[in-house]
Amino acid sequence: MKFFVDTADIDAIRELNDLNMVDGVTTNPSLIMKSGRDILEVIAEICDMVDGPVSGEVVATDYEGMIAEGNKLAEIAPNIAIKVPLTLDGLRACKTFSDDGRMVNVTLCFSANQALLAAKAGATFISPFIGRLDDINIDGLDLIADIRTIYDNYGFETQILAASIRTANHVSECAKIGADVMTAPPSVIKGLVNHPLTDKGLAAFVADAQKAGIKIV
Ligand code: G3P
Repeated sequence: MKFFVDTADIDAIRELNDLNMVDGVTTNPSLIMKSGRDILEVIAEICDMVDGPVSGEVVATDYEGMIAEGNKLAEIAPNIAIKVPLTLDGLRACKTFSDDGRMVNVTLCFSANQALLAAKAGATFISPFIGRLDDINIDGLDLIADIRTIYDNYGFETQILAASIRTANHVSECAKIGADVMTAPPSVIKGLVNHPLTDKGLAAFVADAQKAGIKIV
């Protein structure tokens, strides 16, 4: 499973990139707002740092507007994935971009039927939002499993990009189901390394090494 980092925070991306934990980046208007940066500048900086797909989201909601904005975003770098919302205009824009050979991430997916439509529109990525479904007491992981079944039934190549990931459990469950990609905030990705028994075991090894006076270099 590929790891995308869901942020527009350059320092956070750099830190994870140096740890080889970044296969790509996703942004959205809320994350751009949080960064306080100009969208075109910050996305260009991310594309310079990261080789994998970098999602930049359109803010227009009509087809023509999405096409104009998507083309502008795509000029930034070859690894841009144009992110469009799961609406009729968004699906139409998805088909246009995909026919032009662009990568497209269709976002705000909350149902299996929406994911089916995105695949038929040629999406490179579909972004089902797990956490936001959990927020309304619907199991977001069930949606990932349903989309996996549907895409495998028909051989759709659209990659399932599990989004709105809030917990380490979301990550491991997505991997078990077979999501192609997950995107999570930097804190969630860094938190995957944590286990209390690792901390406890390491403390014991360090103490014993000191007691025994072990020196290697
Ligand atoms: O990738 C989508 C993500 O940014 C949404 O996450 O936590 O705002 O639901 P969240």
